[in-house]
Amino acid sequence: MGIYRDQVVPRLVNLACGMKANDRERARVCSGLHGRVVEIGFGSGFNVPFYPEAVRSISAVEPADLGWKLAAKRLERAKVPIERAGLDGQALPFADNSFETALSTWTLCTIPDVAAALSEVRRVLVPGGTLHFVEHGLAPDAGVQTWQHRLNPIQNAVAGGCNLDRDIRGIVEAAGFEIRDLDVYYAEGPRFLAALSLGVAVSA
Ligand SMILES: C[S@@+](CC[C@H](N)C(=O)[O-])C[C@H]1O[C@@H](n2cnc3c(N)ncnc32)[C@H](O)[C@@H]1O
Repeated sequence: MGIYRDQVVPRLVNLACGMKANDRERARVCSGLHGRVVEIGFGSGFNVPFYPEAVRSISAVEPADLGWKLAAKRLERAKVPIERAGLDGQALPFADNSFETALSTWTLCTIPDVAAALSEVRRVLVPGGTLHFVEHGLAPDAGVQTWQHRLNPIQNAVAGGCNLDRDIRGIVEAAGFEIRDLDVYYAEGPRFLAALSLGVAVSA
């Protein structure tokens, strides 16, 4: 299980997340990031080319050593300082009010205690700071939802704890964020996996 989690899952993530088809979402979600940014679930750094100039620094939070290693080329080319500053979104090693903006892409599906992670993100954002997110999750259609619930245990087992059926809007709001923009739509690919929520939420 350790080898699968440490060696196989980060490579699967690297393949799936590295698809060019995701670039449109990455460009959209990174737009408006500024100042000090905390990125939870940094993975292999596929957002790096999309950080806007207004970003001053990135504090990356990523548990997988191999993910961080696979980010090397993108880290070399980065135009802003990026530090692997934490290992677990559920317990962020930062003082309150440390960041102007936060970023999460295809990560809220996987963090075991996602409520704790979002509460941590709120704590470390300045008042009025924003969380930019693009996540796959519970689809808008009942038929697709049924399949998401059915397939969830398999996805969970093969994809390192990833869940297909989390209600992204619901969990972001339950953590005390106010949704400022939200686009819920199907990207390319099988609908049970491609139901995306892309938006910006404000820490009240
Ligand atoms: C599907 S990948 C997305 C990676 C990256 N955000 C991207 O868009 O390419 C999910 C990421 O969440 C990370 N992750 C899992 N548990 C985590 C936790 N407790 N805190 C922070 N990140 C976590 C995984 O290691 C993985 O890199």
